[in-house]
Amino acid sequence: MKSETPKIMKENSYAHVSGESVFTDDRPLLPNEVFVDFVASSVAYGNIKGIDTSKLQQFPSVIAFYTAKDLQQNLFGGVICDQPLLADKQVTFIGQPVVIIAAKDRNVLREAKQAVKLEIEELPAVISIEEAMKSNSLYASPATIERGDVVAAFEKAEHVSSGVFTCNGQEHYYFEAQAAIAYPVDGECLEIHASTQNPSEVQHDVASMLGIAQSQVVCVVKRIGGGFGGKETQNAPFAQMAALVAYKTKRPARIVLSRDNDILCTGKRHPFTNHYKIGFTSEGQILAYEVDLKANGGAYADLSTAVLARAMLHSENTYSIENVRITGRVFRTNLAPNTAFRAFGAPQGVATIEQAIEEIACFLKKDPLEIRLRNLYGTPPRHITPYGQTFSNNVLPGIINHLLERANYQERRVEIANFNKSSSTHLRGLSLMPIKFGISFTNATLNQGSALVNVHQDGSIQVSTGAVEMGQGVNTRIAEAVADVFSIPVACVKLMSTSTEKIHNTSPTAASASADLNGNAAILAAKRIRERLAHCAVAMLSGETGESDLLHQERAIQNITFAEGFVFDCSSSHFQNKISFSDLLHYAWKSRVGLGEQAYYKTPGLWFDREKGIGNPFQYYTQGAAVSEVQIDRFTGQIDFLSTDIVMDVGESQNAQLDKGQIAGAFIQGLGWCTLEELVYSHKGRLLSCTTGTYKIPGIREFPQHFTIELFGNPHQSSGLKNSKGIGEPPFVLGLSVWIAIKNALANVSPEGARTLKLPATGEEIMRVLNLN
Ligand code: MTE
Ligand code: HPA
Ligand code: MOS
Repeated sequence: MKSETPKIMKENSYAHVSGESVFTDDRPLLPNEVFVDFVASSVAYGNIKGIDTSKLQQFPSVIAFYTAKDLQQNLFGGVICDQPLLADKQVTFIGQPVVIIAAKDRNVLREAKQAVKLEIEELPAVISIEEAMKSNSLYASPATIERGDVVAAFEKAEHVSSGVFTCNGQEHYYFEAQAAIAYPVDGECLEIHASTQNPSEVQHDVASMLGIAQSQVVCVVKRIGGGFGGKETQNAPFAQMAALVAYKTKRPARIVLSRDNDILCTGKRHPFTNHYKIGFTSEGQILAYEVDLKANGGAYADLSTAVLARAMLHSENTYSIENVRITGRVFRTNLAPNTAFRAFGAPQGVATIEQAIEEIACFLKKDPLEIRLRNLYGTPPRHITPYGQTFSNNVLPGIINHLLERANYQERRVEIANFNKSSSTHLRGLSLMPIKFGISFTNATLNQGSALVNVHQDGSIQVSTGAVEMGQGVNTRIAEAVADVFSIPVACVKLMSTSTEKIHNTSPTAASASADLNGNAAILAAKRIRERLAHCAVAMLSGETGESDLLHQERAIQNITFAEGFVFDCSSSHFQNKISFSDLLHYAWKSRVGLGEQAYYKTPGLWFDREKGIGNPFQYYTQGAAVSEVQIDRFTGQIDFLSTDIVMDVGESQNAQLDKGQIAGAFIQGLGWCTLEELVYSHKGRLLSCTTGTYKIPGIREFPQHFTIELFGNPHQSSGLKNSKGIGEPPFVLGLSVWIAIKNALANVSPEGARTLKLPATGEEIMRVLNLN
């Protein structure tokens, strides 16, 4: 019988609250340590005519400065190698690093930076997708996913509607800003402690920048204070800056970005402009869907093509549509290179079809829920995605039914309609939206993980993996999985710092798959040790009983059971012959049996053919749905978040509290993207909202007044870590339920205005729509 999920706290919770947990910049300063910062371009696009560093001599504290010519290699990028660490001939975004400065005194750096004069011949910058479309400057060739015949289907369709969805970017706003410290080791090596989701990228990029071997560089990450995708690729440049200074000056070197500089210089979620066309019957059956996704990639390729791929792979969301044509392009602009951000393009793809569905409902004067249910993925043949992957383990119908009841959807729709008739000051809106989110990196190569498990003689265990703890609880989940293999308390398992000298070729901690990838590797390693221990246990026990022929021994091994810190032969009636786990370990060590193991795991069955737009890119889909209700003040546009109920499928939950924490956090972050967080740029590409005062993330006021999260029991999941499902990103997409509820509210006074509602739906944007009337 399966016992109830134990209440296991996230590791180090108390130390985080008391401030004892060490983050990069908490590491003690060494006596000869220096501080690093950089001079950035204040022009979005231009030719560098001169770099005047002469005034730096006035600062005795400044010990070194570097430009592009000091680098052995100056082009980086995991997908397309196109981004210089330091701008050389041209600058292509505001905030782009040009000169690195190292000083003994942290406070001098600000002034020293200002003393460097960049002479730049300004060129006309491209900021928006609309401008970029004119020059058609793309990253990679356009991509297509196509099934059926949309042209014929549109001709046959009773109704065809078309529109455009546009959304803004989003700042990651991790608590811990980008940071790194590089320590010179033995003259020719470096140890780097960085706030990165991607230790191997830091290691590799540092090595190639300096022209040294990868084996000369180690990257260590104890934990990071949030990443949300913003440290998947974008910590590496700062770690490189610290590394360059440490390598050249032979002193430890530390860089920590100020909040404002971090927001200004780093890439964000991708703005998208998506044109779509949808054909449907009078009953609301969708016959054809065509969408052209256009992403604003910023100044370098970064992960943009992968983000676009995920957007395309989520464009049909949870709906079975026979005729589909999804095209996508990433445009080069003069914004900071846009990058990974929780849910990685999926929200922009999903939002577009959800907008289209709202319009169908409005046009047909039906409840949008009816349209969603009518088109929902279901039993064969309605179970194949446009890219040919079978949507198995579909629990959406069950989730939605459950949620409808739980949230009292039908009654509330009537109540809200009555409210809207009677109120002249406020409008209310309600929504229900489902999601399915594909778990696995869309780039199959990255779906691999490794772990090192070291069992000590007292029964405690140290585990190292390629995963980075960034608040999502991956360490706790891996500890639980390993403890389970030996049936010992979770407290006996410690997750150690992530380090490229213990685990190499790490994939970034991303795609909500790191618990699956690294946790499964840890289980494999632990099981191998358990197997060896079982042999020892037989020897120990047979020593006591005197039985030892081979056949007998084989059977005896099968019967060795690990339970609650003890090991015994479950077929024996002599239960008193149990051995304590630590006695067994001591025996094993004395008998020269290895108690450490490294293992490797890769997700089976993944492939995708980009040219044909077909494949099996995901191991499984995490699913869920949300009902949200909002109230809008008709005079100010202010939104009250009245209520949200979420039901999520996480397979067999490993730790319900952790999962619920991820769901709440992701949802609220999605709500922020949809309603509050506004990146405002000048026409010359300067980010004007780059301070805590001008960029508003959700606070307690935005927390829905009524907010429930329920995990949907799904015992049929047979992959993931211990049959659980990745949950870090998927609920972000449900933040859209709030945006849809706002549309639903606005449609009461202006159906046409509601159609054009932009994302984020700030108070200002809501007033724009209300004033159309
Ligand atoms: N949760 C916290 N607290 N902090 C974070 O930075 N990042 C999210 C999510 N949850 C994040 C988080 C993102 S973008 C991803 S991809 C997943 O965690 C990665 O972790 P996982 O693979 O262990 O789910
Ligand atoms: N998700 C998150 N990060 C990634 C992915 C992905 O699918 N592909 C490459 N980096
Ligand atoms: Mo998460 S955007 O995959 O780091």
